[in-house]
Amino acid sequence: MDLEKLLTDRLAPAFATVAGGPVDPVVRRSPRADFQSDAALALARRLGRPPRDIAAEVRDLAALDDVCTAEVSGPGFLNLTVTDRTLAALVADLAADDRLGVPVTPAPETVVVDYSAPNVAKEMHVGHLRSTVIGDAAVRLLDWLGHRVLRVNHLGDWGTPFGMLIEHLLDLGEAEAAQELSMGDLDSFYTAARRKFDADEAFRERSRQRVVALQGGDERTLRLWRLLVAQSERYFLTVYALLDVTLTAADFRGESAYDDRLGPTVEELDRLGLLRTSDGAACVFPPGFTGRDGEPLPLIVRKRDGGYGYPATDLAALRHRTADLGATRLLYVVGLPQRQHFEMVYAVAELAGWLRPPTRAEHVGFGSILSPDGRMLRSRAGGSVKLVGLLEEAVARAVELTRAKNPELDEATVAEIGRAVGIGAIKYADLATDRGRDYVLDWERMLSLDGNTAPYLQYAYSRIRSVFRRAGTAARPDATILLVEPAERALAFELAGFAAVVGQVERTLAFHQLTGYLYRLASTFSAFYERCPVLRASGELRDSRLVLADLTARTLRQGLHLLGIRTPERM
Ligand code: ARG
Repeated sequence: MDLEKLLTDRLAPAFATVAGGPVDPVVRRSPRADFQSDAALALARRLGRPPRDIAAEVRDLAALDDVCTAEVSGPGFLNLTVTDRTLAALVADLAADDRLGVPVTPAPETVVVDYSAPNVAKEMHVGHLRSTVIGDAAVRLLDWLGHRVLRVNHLGDWGTPFGMLIEHLLDLGEAEAAQELSMGDLDSFYTAARRKFDADEAFRERSRQRVVALQGGDERTLRLWRLLVAQSERYFLTVYALLDVTLTAADFRGESAYDDRLGPTVEELDRLGLLRTSDGAACVFPPGFTGRDGEPLPLIVRKRDGGYGYPATDLAALRHRTADLGATRLLYVVGLPQRQHFEMVYAVAELAGWLRPPTRAEHVGFGSILSPDGRMLRSRAGGSVKLVGLLEEAVARAVELTRAKNPELDEATVAEIGRAVGIGAIKYADLATDRGRDYVLDWERMLSLDGNTAPYLQYAYSRIRSVFRRAGTAARPDATILLVEPAERALAFELAGFAAVVGQVERTLAFHQLTGYLYRLASTFSAFYERCPVLRASGELRDSRLVLADLTARTLRQGLHLLGIRTPERM
């Protein structure tokens, strides 16, 4: 049970009595006490009574004595300070709980998480990195809470570019092309195809015919297409392995998977009377979307040439996810530039009845990664930065730091730690900023052992583990918890806050709330460790402090695990 909930449950009946009906006590963290309840202020207007009177009456009515002390303050806040006894009992419960106080959800849902989604025969760029990292954290967290999570990698594996890509593959020869693609030379493959397409009319014509053959289901063409897709998938899987994410080959469900649903989807829109022809294209004009000059904006579901595009595919996929997969929560982890696309897709799906409450779709959008000069991250040649290069650089830098710090460690261990730290640093830097904002890729800062970084938290974890190595014992889960020093109490208070944060992130998917919590926890631990001897304490106090230390380590490990970040035992 988390503290907010405990206090809310205690206050709610008292507020209900005073108000003559249910009232949310609005309990939140307070700068002046542990928590405060703000509900008396709003209630005062409704009841026409002074807010301080209401707060005082609630304080007197509520059964709080054993849980917290309450004080009326300011214009009518109720300041709540949790008793040490309650905190100690809570910590003892957490220590005995594998889930660290985080309950399995009472209302499990089927959640589709659409993430990563790179494009076949094209290099993954940093946008795909963000999607992969944020999406994987979402998957881990929702899965841990007991939801049924379906990972969907909505690969760009269909559409007109495949005509030119297949023709280019034929020009190169299958073996040569496969070699190039499997080495991850996706960009040069794509660029070469593009260059020919732009320069050579005959190539362009061949490419057009190839698209027709592909969409007509020509067996030979399909075989070549599959080759392209398979080589790219293999390459993407190596990136996922390096990145240490949970996506597997089974999660690839590219745009092509919806091909035979496109026709029926558009027909259904037509039957519902939602289609309008505009410039020869079949469009839906969802209300509320207008262009710069105020004219209504279309979602083009069938192009003038008869082809279906990206929007139609997303509509067909959405319909499949709600109707066939039974999902009630759809997450689309895609960069903010696609916000309007998704809002229009959702709006059309609502009009068509494919998306109805309680089922909802959320665009989990994110900003860009910038280089230290504040501009979009670009390679030296001006192209998009190769993702693998970025990851390799992170690992190489972390290996360097690890070796310098621990000259006595063998190379294999250094490599393993370096990987955990380098990849962890990249992921953490991504997850620790409000995802709607851009952030600057700053190697020094993200690999620093000080501050709100993965290495700082990993180091904090490994330091606690080393305390236990020196102690030669594990914490005794049945130890009596003693909160003597203020630093001890502060640590207990942070530990008790884990469940509330996880519950919050379940709704918001704002992972910086979780990283902020973990950083606070590690800093609070560090202050505790400075002021409260653990191994040099004795008897009950030592046992109690070992439990606090162990619980901190377990919470850090679980929290980082939810973010997809490893916690080496030593660093
Ligand atoms: N492949 C697309 C891109 O690279 C992202 C796809 C996102 N998912 C979706 N259902 N549209 O921009």
